[in-house]
Amino acid sequence: MSDPLRRMLSLHDFEPAARKRLPKPIYAYVSGAVEDGQSERANRDAYAEYEFRPKVLVDVSARSTRCTVLGREYAAPVGVAPMGISALSSYRGDVVLARAAFEAGVPCIMSGSSLIRLETVMDAAPGTWFQAYLPGDEAQIGALIDRVAAAGVDTLVLTVDTPVAANRENNVRAGFSTPLRPSLGLAWQGLTHPRWLAGTFLRTLARHGMPHFENNYATRGAPILSANVLRDFSDRGHLNWEHVAAIRRRWKGLMVLKGILHPDDARSARTLGMDAVIVSNHGGRQLDGSMSPLHALPAVLEAAGGMEVMLDSGVRRGTDVLKAMALGARCVFVGRPFNYAATVAGQRGVAHAIALIAEEVRRNMGLLGLVDLQELDAGFLRRARGGAT
Ligand code: GLV
Repeated sequence: MSDPLRRMLSLHDFEPAARKRLPKPIYAYVSGAVEDGQSERANRDAYAEYEFRPKVLVDVSARSTRCTVLGREYAAPVGVAPMGISALSSYRGDVVLARAAFEAGVPCIMSGSSLIRLETVMDAAPGTWFQAYLPGDEAQIGALIDRVAAAGVDTLVLTVDTPVAANRENNVRAGFSTPLRPSLGLAWQGLTHPRWLAGTFLRTLARHGMPHFENNYATRGAPILSANVLRDFSDRGHLNWEHVAAIRRRWKGLMVLKGILHPDDARSARTLGMDAVIVSNHGGRQLDGSMSPLHALPAVLEAAGGMEVMLDSGVRRGTDVLKAMALGARCVFVGRPFNYAATVAGQRGVAHAIALIAEEVRRNMGLLGLVDLQELDAGFLRRARGGAT
């Protein structure tokens, strides 16, 4: 069989290939947004609202995509965003994503809603950042934070845009739930997707046993497949800035808040001693109609007062990366396409996807007349359709 990666020329190409391999409910979970998909569309459309104003006749032969994020140097400004249950859409998904990022020299944020122990991922890919949701009560928060520190994590990312569960109608329609419920329909999906069944699910069962949520708390959580277990969605609705302040006091490493769109929240984050924020609408998966991070970025940066600001949601092209950085993002994170890449070809697939977008950044730097990413500023952009920049 020919190598599927030969047909993967851009990040967009991974989605249809992954769709063929994945059982419908799992594809629906990864690809889905929320309600009417307004934010997901807006995330992409925002990039088209900016045009480049390139400079010519610059010697760009020695250009470099290297960048510094939170004091560490990376090979390119495109990292792997945290994605839940990655080990269900590809074999050992969290290890595969983290290891590919580690070898490429780009940042990777491991999801807390994951099916492989954080300690295993940290051993495979030291330097991986860890994303946590805040568990419901303070004792649980403390125990999780201590475990994360003991695992050798130096950068903790708290996702703060999930105070209540989002309305994921597409999951319900496709029969996706956590845990997945055994049913004839699910069995049929497995049987009609044999590469996934043999290469991901049965291989995982045989080598590692039934996957469980491993990192939402200090202790093991629910299995991914069960007729009767209820996943513990502890109520996060009461969590507030006091909890963030308490974690900041306990956590000695770098700390980042992800899911910031409002400048007031960026200001609070800075006041509480965060090292960075990630401007994000969760890939359009939480509040439908929430603004695109690219549009939120300028006001957040102004409020951030020098604190580093990164961005995710909707980044698919090197040009998107450069537009976000021209507006002041320190680096960006990409989610779904890396997940699809892992589905299509494991770690090799993710490495290929990272290389594609990093090469797009490099090529487009040349076309823009840039040698170093630090030279990027809003002067290279114009807001199309009449807006001012
Ligand atoms: C989890 O963070 C999700 O968006 O499904």
